Amino acid sequence: MSNNGRPGPKTPVTLKILRYKPGSIDPPRYDTFQVDADPLMTVLDALEEIRATEDPTLAYRHSCHHASCGTCAMKVNGKDVLSCVTKVLDQKSDVIVVEPLGTMPLVADLVVDMGDFARRYEPAGLSFVRESEYLTEAQTPEGVERYTRFESCIECGICLSACPVANTNASFIGPAGLAAWYRSLQKGDGERADILAAVDSDCGVWGCHGAMECTEACPSQVQPGDLIMYLRREVVKSKLPWAH
Ligand code: FES
Repeated sequence: MSNNGRPGPKTPVTLKILRYKPGSIDPPRYDTFQVDADPLMTVLDALEEIRATEDPTLAYRHSCHHASCGTCAMKVNGKDVLSCVTKVLDQKSDVIVVEPLGTMPLVADLVVDMGDFARRYEPAGLSFVRESEYLTEAQTPEGVERYTRFESCIECGICLSACPVANTNASFIGPAGLAAWYRSLQKGDGERADILAAVDSDCGVWGCHGAMECTEACPSQVQPGDLIMYLRREVVKSKLPWAH
């Protein structure tokens, strides 16, 4: 099989891909496909090749191909990753298992319903920039007052899939949602007391078990687990008698 036309030695690898079609009465199954991988071939490259040459019905999401849009997230050998920057041969495995993200409902093959992610994330206000983080010493062109930092979260859903609590508790706000509340607190969006009240529950910061799977899996260094611990400290501090 071809491999994006790149020359050089290839290594045969089997992809075992979870399949499911919407409306099907059949349970999800696994189909296997062979690819000849070179060192640069990503899992997304392999899926594109399979779709182009073997099975045009294979469903998956992607857009940017460079780890910035967050759409290509899936499980590769049980690990939640961005498939566009996950190399096939780096898996060091003759058989690679490719599955959709967990926690969110399965739509088809490797596609999940990201509505569940948005439902947990949106109440925090979708802070796209951090007004509180900018370089005071940065030289800006005429007419530009200052540079602000764009939000790091690419909304890939990986943290929600990796979170052992969100997997079993649909009410848990989840890592990305709690990280978004943290940013709202940082930015001063809304009343501080209202923000802390929104996360002060078993569905919020107290639901986290501190497994830190989210921080480990996040491809954008948002470090949601660390931000949840920060929010906890702020909730506790707000209740201390001398805080009032
Ligand atoms: S395709 Fe955009 S992050 Fe992978």
